[in-house]
Amino acid sequence: MAENVTLKSETPRVSASGLDNVVAAETALSHVDGEAGRLIVAGYDVEELVKAYDFEGAAAALWTAAGLEPAPSEVEVKRALGRAREAAFALVPGLLSLNCHENVTEGLRTGLSMLADDAGNENGTGDIPAHIRALGAAAVFTAALVRAGDRKSPVAPDAGAGHAEDFLRMLRDEAPSAAEVKALNAYMVTVADHGMNASTFTARVIASTRAGTISAVVGALCALKGPLHGGAPGPVLDMLDEIGTSGNVEPWLQKEIADGARLMGFGHRVYRVRDPRADVFNRAVTILTNGNARVRFAREVELAALKALRATKPGHRIDTNMEYYTAVLLEALGIPRDAVTSVFAMARIAGWTAHVMEQERVGRLIRPQSRYVGHWPEDEAAA
Ligand code: ACO
Repeated sequence: MAENVTLKSETPRVSASGLDNVVAAETALSHVDGEAGRLIVAGYDVEELVKAYDFEGAAAALWTAAGLEPAPSEVEVKRALGRAREAAFALVPGLLSLNCHENVTEGLRTGLSMLADDAGNENGTGDIPAHIRALGAAAVFTAALVRAGDRKSPVAPDAGAGHAEDFLRMLRDEAPSAAEVKALNAYMVTVADHGMNASTFTARVIASTRAGTISAVVGALCALKGPLHGGAPGPVLDMLDEIGTSGNVEPWLQKEIADGARLMGFGHRVYRVRDPRADVFNRAVTILTNGNARVRFAREVELAALKALRATKPGHRIDTNMEYYTAVLLEALGIPRDAVTSVFAMARIAGWTAHVMEQERVGRLIRPQSRYVGHWPEDEAAA
């Protein structure tokens, strides 16, 4: 039978339009237990991974779990990423000349598509593999795009610095504090991978066609950008700003829910309890800011939102997701809200590329079926 021809009775009904509970891959990279609120990444509980590694070490652990040989060490990844940042900086003038920095994430999308899928097709990067080039470039491009939006010239990378530290320095043109570097590392390690989320699935679908690592990363970024996935933190901060004062919290939330709006930073397809990453970020931002007024206000809004959601959506178990405190943490690090999704991508590229490695080893094209519910020519003829 030809590939797309199905008989009316052959294809099963889809259980839900969001592929809920469909297992799409086997992976050694991460596991999300939505009932227990537990996230395992590369064999570690995420809270332990944060304690064990800076971002380079977490990326090395993910690529090792994906079967990369020889298994890279944290030091090797740090060195290679430094070189990749330098190589990417050579592409910045070309990227900025395209005037695509109005929206940082869209600018990053353009920048990453300037990279070649095959190593050796870009100047000076002949021996740097695509997963390292993508990670290095994402930090360099994000910093340069933010600065271009402020009419500031790009700052060159320091190949000897840690990845998180160098990103903050390229962003601000001054050295970040040790506490800021620690907080950004904690963020980047925590979000480096997260099961079969929409962007990771996208990356695996693209990898399964053998299009290449950079193509998979660009496609995954497109999926990440949406407000139902990685685009929520900006709207979380807009929400906090709009609410403004303690007296306005409850009326504002009630009106939003009554208008049918979704409260950004709440709800998750898999977690039925509080997202464990929200706690990691809440702790990090509380340490970083000494629990300043913004953090206290965010907590007040969070508690009121949970109360309102439980009262108005009693049939659903909606809790805080990680985007809520991502927003507050990255704001405290001075990252502008339109760059937050790009910073998320800067970290998640470690996971996406590890999934590409896993998927390429499986080697089988991902090609699901659809169930045809349109008109059949023979029915039309009979009518
Ligand atoms: N605010 C208000 N209501 C909500 C919210 C929310 N944040 N989340 C879910 N609901 C409600 C829906 O309106 C729906 O109610 P109804 O049945 O009365 O219409 C019900 O809960 C179920 O909603 P679904 O969309 O089926 O649930 P799903 O599992 O697809 O939701 C999602 C997951 C998309 C994340 C959703 O909770 C949402 O839109 N949240 C806000 C955006 C957000 O925070 N995104 C970041 C997610 S984390 C990440 O991707 C890294």
